[in-house]
Amino acid sequence: MLRLDKYLCGMNVGTRSQVKKELKLGMVSVNGETITRPEYKVDETTAQVAYKGKVLEYHKYVYYMLNKPAGVVSATKDNLHGTVAELLQSAGFGDLFPVGRLDKDTEGLLLMTNDGGLAHALLSPGKHVEKRYEAELEEGLSKEALQKLEQGVEIGEKHPTRPARVELLGEKKIALTITEGKFHQVKRMLEAVGNRVVFLRRVAMGSLELDESLAPGEYRELTKGEVEGLGGWLK
Ligand code: URA
Repeated sequence: MLRLDKYLCGMNVGTRSQVKKELKLGMVSVNGETITRPEYKVDETTAQVAYKGKVLEYHKYVYYMLNKPAGVVSATKDNLHGTVAELLQSAGFGDLFPVGRLDKDTEGLLLMTNDGGLAHALLSPGKHVEKRYEAELEEGLSKEALQKLEQGVEIGEKHPTRPARVELLGEKKIALTITEGKFHQVKRMLEAVGNRVVFLRRVAMGSLELDESLAPGEYRELTKGEVEGLGGWLK
């Protein structure tokens, strides 16, 4: 059983406050009866919920992309800092969790969902899901450093990093695509070649690309195509 306002948020009818207004206006019916109370409990597996006369198709999982801003932590709760989950709270999605972690000072693409199976698949070390980062560096990258990053560097783990791809985007800016997710990996890789990351942003994870129209702190629901693209990792 689920609160009706939560159900409607999940079906993307609107934010929690928009949903409450729509309910008050009598726009929602459950099994043919107009319901105005946000706390009304629906059985999401059987109820016929209609918004403006159109029956909604229930889906259990929701998927959002967040452009994580610097200064918040990739967690659901934290005693000291704001969290990525809290950013989605006003939309009624405070219970989504981030798929993986970005450092507090890192910006960019973070998938937020309640789909544990997909999260597990995307984070599974054996799947080698590509993550693409844009990094601004303290110094320009030498040819040798670039080659080392691509071949694999020692960052104090059991094995060197797996082969990566490097593109030069500017004098002191690169795109680095890696297929692992070790703690502070990009920063440690650059340190291993005598450089330093001064700004880091994730722009892609698997087939999912950051929507550049999202300012840091903004989010949007994934399109059907984007969700289907990620579903390939479940196989
Ligand atoms: N690598 C890092 O060093 N930091 C991140 O946030 C992500 C990858």
